[in-house]
Amino acid sequence: MDKNIDFGHVADIYDYYANVDYDINFFKTLCKGHKNILDLMCGTGRVSIPLIEEGLLLTCVDYSEEMLDIFRKKVNGSQNVKIICQDVCELNLEERYDLIMIPSNSIAEIIDPKKRRLALRRIYEHLTSDGIFFCTLYNPAYRIQQADGNIRYLGKYDLDNNRTLIITYYNVYSPGAGIISGTQFYEIYRNNRLIEKRCLDIKFSVISKEEICKMARKEGFSLKAIYGDYEPYHYDEASMFMNLLFKKRGCR
Ligand SMILES: C[S@@+](CC[C@H](N)C(=O)[O-])C[C@H]1O[C@@H](n2cnc3c(N)ncnc32)[C@H](O)[C@@H]1O
Repeated sequence: MDKNIDFGHVADIYDYYANVDYDINFFKTLCKGHKNILDLMCGTGRVSIPLIEEGLLLTCVDYSEEMLDIFRKKVNGSQNVKIICQDVCELNLEERYDLIMIPSNSIAEIIDPKKRRLALRRIYEHLTSDGIFFCTLYNPAYRIQQADGNIRYLGKYDLDNNRTLIITYYNVYSPGAGIISGTQFYEIYRNNRLIEKRCLDIKFSVISKEEICKMARKEGFSLKAIYGDYEPYHYDEASMFMNLLFKKRGCR
């Protein structure tokens, strides 16, 4: 399978650095009362696992077997979750869902607009008639500001076996293509000696509100709400996030 960013290269260390939880309470509130929830581009289950632990029923999809293997180990056969390896642009599941969500700005990793449109089409097909689709994005103004080509320090993380991980990265914005690209550099140390280096090239689209709303509208969605944060949800030009809640057109 052709992957834009292959998280399989860092699946074993992903949970150590992608350990944020600023959005979890929001998702717990969003999911309350929903009977069948689909978490797309779920990775190792950062968002899904706290929801499963609340007793919610989730189906989780990602196209990286390596990321899903880590997820499977963590849930250890829980009956509350189905974990499926698929490309969201070709999503094909038997069930229909009353809530479908894409956390972590991940839809922007589908950089080909035609494929993004296909993903929206497949999502629409998998929603119940009164279902909702929650799509998280960064506010483009905020995201572009960070993509200035400077090397930045992401953090230092304790791994297992006495190892330490240090991550640095840079991002560059190409206005013509509307794409931010860059590289993440991973250095692993033991007893202050560098024992391993990896890097991961990244590329994602900068998607405007107009663009995503127009595409979603063409696929049958209407915008129900827009949030600039995970709390207190207000959105304006200065917001860091641009999280969109869609419903099927014609539904209240
Ligand atoms: C930034 S990670 C986010 C994972 C998780 N939602 C989180 O918050 O930690 C993005 C994930 O999207 C997956 N992904 C990217 N494009 C995909 C696609 N077209 N179909 C399915 N999964 C995809 C990647 O494999 C990766 O696990």
